[in-house]
Parts: sequence; structure tokens; C-alpha cells
Amino acid sequence: MEERSYFLALRIFADHGLHVVSIQTDEAGLVIKDLIQALKTHRPKFIYVIPTFQNPSGATLSQDRREQLVSIAQEHGFLIFADEVYQFLNYTKTPPKSFSAAIDSKHVISLGSFSKILAPGLRLGWMHAHSSILKKIIACGTLDSGGGMNPFTSAIVRSVIESGGLEKNISNLVDVLGNRVKAMDESLRGHIPRAVFTTPHGGYFFWLRLPGFDTQELQRKAQSHQVGLRAGIRFSSQSGLRDYMRLSVSFYDENEIEEGIVRLKNALRSMSGP
Ligand SMILES: Cc1ncc(COP(=O)(O)O)c(C=O)c1O
Repeated sequence: MEERSYFLALRIFADHGLHVVSIQTDEAGLVIKDLIQALKTHRPKFIYVIPTFQNPSGATLSQDRREQLVSIAQEHGFLIFADEVYQFLNYTKTPPKSFSAAIDSKHVISLGSFSKILAPGLRLGWMHAHSSILKKIIACGTLDSGGGMNPFTSAIVRSVIESGGLEKNISNLVDVLGNRVKAMDESLRGHIPRAVFTTPHGGYFFWLRLPGFDTQELQRKAQSHQVGLRAGIRFSSQSGLRDYMRLSVSFYDENEIEEGIVRLKNALRSMSGP
């Protein structure tokens, strides 16, 4: 998996006793050179990537690297789990096509979720893969029992899609969240100029580096200033990324975001910096 990845994916892999190998990332996502190097000593069953507006970094895997990744997966015989829950939430730059476009390779499973585009409480998502892969999944006992996953909610969501409601909701979300990203960007640049970050083009997250600061300590201080953040170490399979942190724009409006950044600035001031 990418070194800096969704912290709950890390937990889930630990629950299943998986041996995780981390691959370096940069502004254009997974570093292919590092993957090739790792494949000299490891034979993975799969790679888990969040290719678009990544959690936590906001980075998007370039088209070029997507193509390389698919051909490497074919060559080495592993699957790509592309977790693409932010694919539709683009505000300022259209991302490359989803990995759905590469399912004919038979090495790709593209995952989507209604959590970010409709409602997280639905607990409904989708999987897009070649029929040879889907056949195996459909035949498993868990899906056979109960006639499938969540059929009642699926029927409701189907009618939301068919009525055009989902599309309308996504377009509204893109407006609302795009404005929140702008607000957070301006507040951060105005109040915390020492933070190093790239403005995300979509998704929920700002991934910031505060060189020399321990963000776990900042998280504790921030709590007493009534503002939340997630320390970078939570997103590392190597206990690294200690001066990084993730902020989210998904819940609060623009004014609240500005207030949150001011509180964060005050929390930072109360720390002994580098
Ligand atoms: C990359 C990624 N995958 C999956 C999820 C969770 O999705 P769901 O609510 O469908 O379980 C999240 C939520 O934060 C996420 O960021």
C-alpha cells in the first residue's frame, strides 16, 4: 500500500493479519520506481491504492502511472484494489478516468461508495471488476447468505440514481465542498504560513507538513483549543510522518473552517516549535 494511506485500511489489513509493504508516494501518487524495487523482494497478492484525491494526501495518480501500474500488475500477477471513493468530488481539475476503465486487464477491482456522495449511513458501495473476478466474489458464502449485500438500501439508492437525484446531489456537493476547500486554503495561507501543503483539486483533505513539529502533541494541544486534526502517524504503516497532519473540509462551513484554523494557530503558538 501507499506510504500515507487511509488509516482504517491499515487497521483492516492488521485485522486480517496481512503483511503490509509500503511504497513511497509523491505529488503524482504512487512512485512506480519504488514499487518495482519492492517487487524484487516481495510477491504481493494485491496492491491497495487510493488513486484519486487520496486520503490523506489529496494527491491523484497520474494517467501515465496508472497505465504502468496495470501493466506491472499483469506482469507480476497481482490485483489492484483501487479505492475510488472521491472520484466524483473534483472541484478544480478533472482527474484521470477511474480504474473501472481498466477492468478488462482482469487485474483491477475498482471500489466506489455512496458514503461520500450520498450518505455514509447507507453503508452501501459498489465494486467494478471483470466478470471472471466478480463470479468468484458472488459465489462466496457471505453474499449467498441473505441474497446479497444490503438489498433494501440498494433498491432505495437505485431509485435515487434513476430519478437523477444522485447527480444533483453530487453537483451540489462539488459546489459546497469546493468553496470550503477555497476557504481552508485562504485561512491556512493567512494564519499558518509555515504549513507546507498543496491545495487539493478534489476530495475532503488537506495534507500539511509542519517541519519539526510533533503533530501528535499538536493534536493534544488542539483538543484544548476545541479543534480537531489527525496526526500524520495514523496514516503511516512505518510509524513515520510525524510532522504531517490531515485536516478535513467535509463537515464545517466556511466561517467555521476559518475559526478552526485560527484555533489551530493558537494551539501551535502554545507549543515549543523547532
Ligand atoms: C479512501 C477511503 N475508502 C473508504 C472509506 C470508507 O468508505 P465507506 O463509508 O463506504 O466504508 C473512506 C472514508 O473515509 C476513505 O477515505
